[in-house]
Amino acid sequence: MGISSNDPLLLRAARGEVVDRPPVWMMRQAGRYMKAYRDLREKYPCFRQRSEIPEVAIEVSLQPWRAFQPDGVILFSDIVTPLPGLGVDMDIAEGKGPIIYSPIRTEKQIENLRTLEPEESLPFIRTILQALRQEVGNKSTVLGFVGAPWTLAAYLVEGKGSKTYSVIKGMAFSEPAVLHKLLAKLAEAIATYIRYQIDSGAQVVQMFDSWAGQLSPQDYEVFALPYQKWVFDQVKATHPHTPLILLVSGSAGLLERMAKSGADVLTIDWTVDMADARVRLGKHVKVQGNLDPGVLFGSREFIRDRIFDTVRKAGNWGHILNLGHGVLPDTPEENVAFFFETAKGLKTAVA
Ligand code: CP3
Repeated sequence: MGISSNDPLLLRAARGEVVDRPPVWMMRQAGRYMKAYRDLREKYPCFRQRSEIPEVAIEVSLQPWRAFQPDGVILFSDIVTPLPGLGVDMDIAEGKGPIIYSPIRTEKQIENLRTLEPEESLPFIRTILQALRQEVGNKSTVLGFVGAPWTLAAYLVEGKGSKTYSVIKGMAFSEPAVLHKLLAKLAEAIATYIRYQIDSGAQVVQMFDSWAGQLSPQDYEVFALPYQKWVFDQVKATHPHTPLILLVSGSAGLLERMAKSGADVLTIDWTVDMADARVRLGKHVKVQGNLDPGVLFGSREFIRDRIFDTVRKAGNWGHILNLGHGVLPDTPEENVAFFFETAKGLKTAVA
């Protein structure tokens, strides 16, 4: 695939082409640390308005694009956004995250979940993605994203975010067949949703299995990995050229297993040294990451040094520069600007 095309940098790097510098974007690059976002939030106080009214979601997605010209522009949305399309009533509470009004605890509730019809329940996603492609052209890559089956099941079963995951683990370890039924239904909906995002203009799609790192490796192999793989296989069968990225939070003990998911790129968090990640995964696995989001509270010298260090350790192939997780709410905007300027000024030959 060495043909140099007009495709944007991040897309080419994610496909495995050799590029001049690592593409750079940030998870949660739109959001609370930006004054423009906080101002807009006063006008649209509900998260669902900000993410489901196309003009507002387009505006929010483009705020970091206008401010920093990242190599990736991600759809402003949430992993729970498709759930109402399955017949699940939800909201996203300020400072708390998703709330599911009737948590799923019985087989009957699972049987009653509807089949996702994105054109009917998520038409705003098509409008938003098309507008983002139109706006950034070939200057940046438009990313879509979804939650993975285990992580969405965690919200559905717990009813909200959790520190212990005791309800879903209770289900997993006492009635595994019930949970597998839910995971299989979610996997089908997520595959449908990824295809819809790609058909609407997403050039790369990231799957967040944020809470899969809460599982022991042996349980990850039963409740998370097979469903990640099933989703990726389904999407690859119809859309083989769209790179797929996987993120698991707290994944240091799972890296080798994550590589079995079939993802094209694995997100590495900052609890793993990038050089170690490269050794553990082998040189054919593409990686994304992995600065500590806390680095952006540091001095300019510190931020610059960490960027250089990460890029040097990742080597000059198959690396998307990013934080190891989302940018934190109180991060100084000027440090985000400095991060992007420095990263975009790099040439592969960092001394
Ligand atoms: O601009 C982008 O990068 C897209 C932003 C994005 C949001 N949610 C917007 C959002 C992304 C990628 C997500 C995915 C998401 N949502 C994940 C996976 C990523 C991860 O963190 O591991 C998860 C677990 C969720 C569930 C969720 N939604 C949480 C935990 C929260 C945060 C609660 C809080 O207030 O800290 C939300 C709400 C949410 N989704 C916010 C944003 C910007 C914060 C609320 C707000 O700004 O109004």
